[in-house]
Amino acid sequence: ATNRTFTMIKPDAVADGHTGAIIKMIEEAGFRIIALKKTQLTSEQAGKFYAVHSERPFYSSLCAYMSSGPIVPMILEKENAVADFRTLIGATNPAQAAEGTVRKLFAKSIEANAIHGSDSDENAAIEGSFFFAGVEQY
Ligand code: CMP
Repeated sequence: ATNRTFTMIKPDAVADGHTGAIIKMIEEAGFRIIALKKTQLTSEQAGKFYAVHSERPFYSSLCAYMSSGPIVPMILEKENAVADFRTLIGATNPAQAAEGTVRKLFAKSIEANAIHGSDSDENAAIEGSFFFAGVEQY
């Protein structure tokens, strides 16, 4: 079925000028952009977004990194969007990401890994609504 996922291009990839190349990969893979903006999180907002990871040893570093510069969040639509998008971006650790994936091409480390992709339909809806109002998710 056609459904939606949520992504954000992370600070390292935005700062390095890869926003356009990554959006091109996303569109060429058949995803339709439903909502898109450029914004910057405070550390507190990053902490809320990643609250599920609050007990992990990398949590405070992740919050600092994710608030270190502008990000580009997007809601995307496609057949089988969540799973197909995770295939497109590759493994969390770029050392393990497949050839041709966004993370293989652009990620710098397991933390500065260029892009986020939701892991379920439920989280896609929650994460999309964190960044975009209902009227923007047309
Ligand atoms: P993402 O999958 O978007 O959501 C959790 C993020 O935490 C992940 O991308 C990385 O940016 C970061 N992360 C995950 N695992 C580690 C780790 N072992 N060390 C540092 N950062 C991590």
